[in-house]
Amino acid sequence: MKLTHALCLCLALALALPYSHQDHGGDHDNLEHHHHHDDAHIEHHDHHELDRCQGLEMDAVAVNEDGIPLFFKGDHLFKGFDGKSELSNESFAEMDDHHHLAHVDAAFHMHCQEHPDHDHMFFFLDHKVFVYHHHKLEVGYPKEISEVFPGIPNHLDAAVECPKPECDEHSVLFFKDHDIYDYNVKTKAVEKKVFQGMPNCTSALRYMGHHYCFHGHNFCKFDPKTGQMPGKYPKEARDYFMRCSNFSENSDHVERERCSHVHLDAITSDHGGNMYAFRDHHFLRRDEGNHTLTADRTEHAFKEIHSDVDAVFSFNDHLHMIKDDKLYVFQDDEPHNQMDGYPKSVKEELGIEGPIDAAFVCEDHHIAHIIKGNHIYDVELNASPRVAVNNHTIGLFKKIDAAKCDSSGVKVFVGSHFYHFNSTMEFVAARALPEQHRVSMDLFSCEH
Ligand SMILES: *[C@@H]1O[C@H](CO)[C@@H](O)[C@H](O)[C@H]1NC(C)=O
Ligand SMILES: *[C@@H]1O[C@H](CO)[C@@H](O)[C@H](O)[C@H]1NC(C)=O
Ligand SMILES: *[C@@H]1O[C@H](CO)[C@@H](O)[C@H](O)[C@H]1NC(C)=O
Ligand SMILES: *[C@@H]1O[C@H](CO)[C@@H](O)[C@H](O)[C@H]1NC(C)=O
Ligand SMILES: *[C@@H]1O[C@H](CO)[C@@H](O)[C@H](O)[C@H]1NC(C)=O
Ligand SMILES: *[C@@H]1O[C@H](CO)[C@@H](O)[C@H](O)[C@H]1NC(C)=O
Repeated sequence: MKLTHALCLCLALALALPYSHQDHGGDHDNLEHHHHHDDAHIEHHDHHELDRCQGLEMDAVAVNEDGIPLFFKGDHLFKGFDGKSELSNESFAEMDDHHHLAHVDAAFHMHCQEHPDHDHMFFFLDHKVFVYHHHKLEVGYPKEISEVFPGIPNHLDAAVECPKPECDEHSVLFFKDHDIYDYNVKTKAVEKKVFQGMPNCTSALRYMGHHYCFHGHNFCKFDPKTGQMPGKYPKEARDYFMRCSNFSENSDHVERERCSHVHLDAITSDHGGNMYAFRDHHFLRRDEGNHTLTADRTEHAFKEIHSDVDAVFSFNDHLHMIKDDKLYVFQDDEPHNQMDGYPKSVKEELGIEGPIDAAFVCEDHHIAHIIKGNHIYDVELNASPRVAVNNHTIGLFKKIDAAKCDSSGVKVFVGSHFYHFNSTMEFVAARALPEQHRVSMDLFSCEH
């Protein structure tokens, strides 16, 4: 592997927390010191922001207390699957007081109800371990790794949590070179293993109940008990864990769009029951009565719209697509011709300022439910002019990526997950999070 102290990471259970979106804003101009970057492809931008789409080998990965993966690289981190890099010290200030320790080698999130460090994040830098709870360093840390995790070496490559029953006992797997140290959280016993055939992990993540080993810009899914890698691996991390417009050349678009953990931009079902799900430059389509999903570039089917649709809803045999402050209206049959006179401004057409986050119309109805931040509005589509009324606060989520409504009710999409409600009213009034479903596996039948 290229980095001497590569890292690891670990991750948490499918946390039953709403996945609030990261702030995509922050510019960090004052980065003074640089890490040695061995990776050939890193591009240094003027203000030293890192671009994860350049094929970075991450130092460590772990989910935070809200279930959002944090990817560490040098003195930066990436929150979630898209957005810019930020300085790690803005989130974890004390790690900065130890500059000689360089970067995070490995990280994991402890999710073990009966453990005193439940819901804490562990970071490994050289020979030290830092323990954080909601960005606050626990008293007495950093400590020596050997003190907190006896039998675990310094200069780790990666770490990942493994709860029961995925492992026989609640464990943390530590990776260093080709060796694996299976650490029993309860008894502190360490069992050294080698997983034949598995690459040396430079970071590792448990996400949505699966274990992933990252190496370079590739990853493998593995069985934490045996090290077996079911399926075709390695795969390209940028295809499944990052929102990047340029994919590897041999990327299978259908497979990538089905299995990606990156949030959807917009989703709808048209009057015939055909589903469209948009993400970045592509969309997935599934026809009523047919389980086969197809993927295409958005600009091929919906001229003028290249990427990054904010919201889509179906009404009167037309797909209404919203991007920034514009509304585009396309015939829902192929070819998707655009209606004359469009795009028009969202404000003019729906009575609300764009951009918006999500929109849906329930079957046979003519009210568009428009979601913007944590507010939802009703727009009577048969009225003229249209106005946004019934401003309600959504209690459960701060930000929603996409939503759709069909005969079974409302599905609300947040990050890699979606939630089902029997009706719009139930969704708006809900105070407790319903069962969490996985977009990739439960909606698009991705096997991994
Ligand atoms: C974080 O690190 C940068 C560069 O090393 C430094 O300029 C900045 O002051 C630090 N910020 C905090 C909050 O410590
Ligand atoms: C993995 O680590 C071992 C040392 O334990 C080393 O011999 C081997 O070359 C490494 N494999 C790769 C693919 O880097
Ligand atoms: C994608 O790749 C093409 C060709 O290599 C390049 O021109 C374009 O700028 C890249 N786009 C992004 C978003 O990196
Ligand atoms: C289902 O959809 C796929 C992809 O569009 C198509 O090739 C296939 O013929 C369809 N099957 C049926 C039974 O319509
Ligand atoms: C909706 O109500 C909130 C306060 O509950 C307010 O801040 C917001 O501006 C309202 N939206 C519109 C479009 O009036
Ligand atoms: C939603 O509908 C299902 C099936 O009709 C029912 O079992 C469930 O109790 C309903 N949920 C709520 C919160 O009303």
